[in-house]
Amino acid sequence: MPLLPSSLYGLARPFLFGFDPEHAHELTLDGLARTQNTPLACAYAAPRVDDPVTLAGLEFPNRVGLAAGLDKNARCIDAFAAMGFGFVEVGTVTPKAQPGNPKPRMFRLPERDALINRLGFNNEGLDAFLANVQKARFRRNGSGGNRKPMLLGLNIGKNATTPIERAVDDYLACLDGVYPHADYVTINISSPNTANLRTLQSDEALDALLGAIAERRHALAERNRRRVPLFVKIAPDLDESQVAVIAATLQRHGMDGVIATNTTLARDAVAGLPHASEAGGLSGAPVRAASNRVVSQLRAALGPGFPIIGVGGILSAADAKAKMAAGADVVQIYTGLIYRGPALVREAAQALLQSRSAA
Ligand SMILES: Cc1cc2nc3c(=O)[nH]c(=O)nc-3n(C[C@H](O)[C@H](O)[C@H](O)COP(=O)(O)O)c2cc1C
Repeated sequence: MPLLPSSLYGLARPFLFGFDPEHAHELTLDGLARTQNTPLACAYAAPRVDDPVTLAGLEFPNRVGLAAGLDKNARCIDAFAAMGFGFVEVGTVTPKAQPGNPKPRMFRLPERDALINRLGFNNEGLDAFLANVQKARFRRNGSGGNRKPMLLGLNIGKNATTPIERAVDDYLACLDGVYPHADYVTINISSPNTANLRTLQSDEALDALLGAIAERRHALAERNRRRVPLFVKIAPDLDESQVAVIAATLQRHGMDGVIATNTTLARDAVAGLPHASEAGGLSGAPVRAASNRVVSQLRAALGPGFPIIGVGGILSAADAKAKMAAGADVVQIYTGLIYRGPALVREAAQALLQSRSAA
């Protein structure tokens, strides 16, 4: 994780990789939280690439976003804004604070630019999350000149102790809380580390969940006089017919976009490597092919106008372009930031701008 200027991340990485992955992660987030909005933020700040695109009625300043899970408690929004992201998604937040799974629960597979995690939605709960979101200054800071601020996505989930039959209660409680503060809200039904969560992607469960969420959004839109776009985040471990059913269900319930994908349970791409058999979700280069396949199946099922946020295995500018070629409108990164540092944000955003100008 980046704490130093892009060019110096090559030096910082061996230092950070000397720590256990979760410890390195915490050190980095602490550093970012302390230095954001201070002169020390120049250590990781980079000018934002200007490449506006309108999606789901929102103006994204550029096409590269931070994926959910890196800043679960929304502590470092301004630091990520300073790195030049066009949009930042924080969470997953659950209604109540929860510790997540026992440690160790995060592993590096450096041979393949990959991570395995089974964190299990460790987070400080909705109230602490909202307090942090409200402290963020990026909307006031702007990004120089008259440019529009970066967009903020708030990603919601369920507590581990809530029975899956009551999952909808948790999503609605989170939706109520985050709605007034979000540019968009992501319904995360694809973490592999909360028991049965992924069953919410199946036909009837998804239909019931999205029906309840759409109804609540209607009420919230009237109360807040603002219709906040809703995105649904899905897994890469789905076959073409499951993707098609999900696509139809999203459209039927008026969802505004889909985020594809979360981490994978598959291990073929890392078989035999140290940590490959750890339980959890695999991210980074080994999830790229499956994520791109799901993105292209979604595009085929949804048609050209439906927003797709592509995520999974972007480690280079070329990977970001490939995600767009598969059918994504904008992209997000997580594991790429760990392995390549903040330079990847600008590199990818610039490459996407150039490929648009060339088109
Ligand atoms: C350590 C870790 C924690 C994550 N936590 C979340 C989470 O809380 N919510 C979520 O929607 N996705 C979470 N993700 C998934 C990422 O947002 C992303 O979808 C996935 O890692 C694939 O992208 P990548 O290959 O660029 O990492 C997490 C990923 C990692 C590596």
